Amino acid sequence: MVDIKKLARPHIRELSAYSSARDEYTGKKGIFLDANENPLGSTSRRSYNRYPDPYQKSLKKAIGKLKNISTDKIFLGNGSDEAIDLLIRIFCHPNQDSVIVMPPTFEMYEVAARINQNEVIAVQLTNDFQINLGKVLEDITTNTKIIFICSPNNPTGNSMNRKSILEIVEKFNGIVVIDEAYIDFSRDPGFFDLLEKHNHVVILQTFSKAWGLAGLRLGMAFADKEIIRLLNKVKPPYNVNRSTQSLAMKAIKKAEYKDFMVQQLLAARKILHLELSNLDIVERVYPSDSNFLLVRFKDADKVYRYLLKNQVIVRSRSNVVLCDNALRITVGNEKENIALINTLKNYKA
Ligand SMILES: Cc1ncc(COP(=O)(O)O)c(C=O)c1O
Repeated sequence: MVDIKKLARPHIRELSAYSSARDEYTGKKGIFLDANENPLGSTSRRSYNRYPDPYQKSLKKAIGKLKNISTDKIFLGNGSDEAIDLLIRIFCHPNQDSVIVMPPTFEMYEVAARINQNEVIAVQLTNDFQINLGKVLEDITTNTKIIFICSPNNPTGNSMNRKSILEIVEKFNGIVVIDEAYIDFSRDPGFFDLLEKHNHVVILQTFSKAWGLAGLRLGMAFADKEIIRLLNKVKPPYNVNRSTQSLAMKAIKKAEYKDFMVQQLLAARKILHLELSNLDIVERVYPSDSNFLLVRFKDADKVYRYLLKNQVIVRSRSNVVLCDNALRITVGNEKENIALINTLKNYKA
């Protein structure tokens, strides 16, 4: 077991969280004159004149039921981005501590660390986009506080080798963040089971991908109670707004629709993979456990500009390590995927 309290920056450990008006009385009924809200209502018909629940109790209850985890092990944030930022600020001293990232990967880990003036140790993935375990273990220093692992990984699309992750979790006494933003699209069951035995593992998931709610900004972090307590202490009081909380509740009540969308997207991914592989201009379509495909072209920059000109917007990853000449293409709806393929078929090198 890792001593989480000791790992946290001392001033955070000792910080008393801001106590919002809604922390002190949790009942639903009453005359609420405690938060300087507008009692006359709001410009919307909904009760947006009232602050939202700072700890999102009902929503956490629903998520807890869905994921089979107790609510004190759940943190909800304004996207997973918020959890990434808070974890760095809780555990990493500016100008002293470091984090390990494994490029090519989601770039927010590095950006959030740099904002907090932390050293970023980049341990490149192997050529088959797997964790370079030996190098990761070798590069850990006494000041390394967080290791970020993304599985399935963005932008490569593949899942990370379970054995490597287990070894990192066993050997590293800092925080291991496993970002599972794309887990619903994976054959891999993910790493939720690690939470039971390892109090230094944080799993990130999001409503932005499979749930189709990127615009709401709702990210989840699952971890030991002590980590969740620290996250709650540092977060802004009302970090998940009222409409996000209520719309996410609605989505959870229709979770089977999320599963239906995932099935549709997986079927579309398969077709898209095949169609792209058949194009002369494509050198390789990488296998994917995500809702996107990493595609290596003969000349990605030209294809990228051509697609843009035709109002088909994909993500160029050409300048990212191990991704020369690669574009990352999100699986669209049927019409969008057909338009993409037809546009590519009309490309003249
Ligand atoms: C791996 C990964 N994690 C997290 C996010 C961001 O998630 P959220 O929308 O919950 O902030 C993304 C977004 O693209 C991502 O690719």
